[in-house]
Amino acid sequence: GAAVEVDISGLKPGEKLTVEWRGKPVWVVRRTPEQVAALKTIEGQLADPKSDRTAYPIPDYAHNGNRSIKPEYLVVLGICTHLGCSPSDKFQAGPQPSLPDDWKGGFLCPCHGSTFDLAGRVFKNKPAPDNLEVPPHMYLSDTKILIG
Ligand code: FES
Repeated sequence: GAAVEVDISGLKPGEKLTVEWRGKPVWVVRRTPEQVAALKTIEGQLADPKSDRTAYPIPDYAHNGNRSIKPEYLVVLGICTHLGCSPSDKFQAGPQPSLPDDWKGGFLCPCHGSTFDLAGRVFKNKPAPDNLEVPPHMYLSDTKILIG
């Protein structure tokens, strides 16, 4: 399939944009410094914090706590690894319906309640078996990403 070029110059901290690649939604999230810092604090609550599972290939550059090339930017497929629903944005930290009291931001799948952090990592005891998939991608410049 054709690679897709994404212009992220207009993406502000705390925002997400969605592009289509091979018929699938790809999310690019620009994380705030607070959101990046929070990723480390919740590792004990996650099923696979370092993406060690091998159900699908993970690019080498996503085998870290941020699951990304640059800590500021997350690039993941917006498809729940349970049965393929599209999780919704729950970026705001703090208590919210269906989320833990110490929620630091991430995504909630409306179908069966799987929760993912802002690195797309699934929380323990949730039906989704894996973290959100990271598609192959690279930076063409500071403001352009090539997906695929
Ligand atoms: Fe997302 Fe089931 S499809 S939790």
